[in-house]
Amino acid sequence: MKKILIATQKPFAPAAINKIKEITDREGFELRLLEKYNSTEELKTAVADVDALIVRSDKVTAEVVEAAKELKIVVRAGAGYDNLDLAACSAKGVVAMNTPGQNSNAVAELAFGMMIFQARNKFNGTAGTELRGKKLGIHAYGNVGMYVAKIAKGFGMEVYAFDPFVSAEKIKADGITPVTSVEELYRTCQYVSLHIPANDQTKKSINATLLEQMPKGAVLVNTARKEVIDEESLAQLMEKRDDLAYISDIAPDIRSVFEEKFSNRCFFTPKKMGAQTAEANINAGVAAATQIIKYFKNGDETFRLNK
Ligand code: 3PG
Repeated sequence: MKKILIATQKPFAPAAINKIKEITDREGFELRLLEKYNSTEELKTAVADVDALIVRSDKVTAEVVEAAKELKIVVRAGAGYDNLDLAACSAKGVVAMNTPGQNSNAVAELAFGMMIFQARNKFNGTAGTELRGKKLGIHAYGNVGMYVAKIAKGFGMEVYAFDPFVSAEKIKADGITPVTSVEELYRTCQYVSLHIPANDQTKKSINATLLEQMPKGAVLVNTARKEVIDEESLAQLMEKRDDLAYISDIAPDIRSVFEEKFSNRCFFTPKKMGAQTAEANINAGVAAATQIIKYFKNGDETFRLNK
């Protein structure tokens, strides 16, 4: 019987585990669970004899892949796969996949939760502002960006998007205004919502040079990755510009600097929770398990990330 391990420092909702177990039981796979583990050693021990691994933002490093002697497939139940060492997986013949789109709505909804919280002065009783009529820039028009755009239209926002990999026609067809450069997006929009992945091209790419072009009362919304922000340069810009706010689902490394200096103009969730809904956990978890089963049963490699 093939063994599938779900290893999640940030556990799925119980409803998602139940659904995954229903599927693995029915298909004749053994399901194991390692939740809230504290060390790589614990993860290495748990992966030692499993055939398949499901993770969230858990780090699947070369060391972990090396310890997983029987591993054939790892699935990141989610979109961003910067936590998977793809080269290490390829070197050991391990297939790596993600489950794009499955948790996107949850992330998009959280972006609005944070925007409203900030626009209403963190619910402190003073008069805030509304989202209606404001310009929202979507930086990367992928699965999450598209949901953000749809919801923003419901709020009556003017929505713009920049994505070099998506055609202007597609963006226009969704009723969104495409812009031709990152600079134009930041120059135009009071709110910018980030949906870029963290990779060699994007790390630290959101810096003061870009952000200082934003209009008065600018709010940067980050439900993507902290690594894409040049934190030092953002903090320096926020010193200069007392109208700029930064709200993020992924706390910066220099969180205390932001919170001490700009307490009214920043907000960070205690733990990344964009995808932390029962629905997103069920969608991503079930997709991951189903992809593993299909891979073993008929070699289906849809959503494979590595060569
Ligand atoms: C993703 O890349 O899918 C999201 O950032 C969610 O990550 P999480 O599974 O760690 O919550």
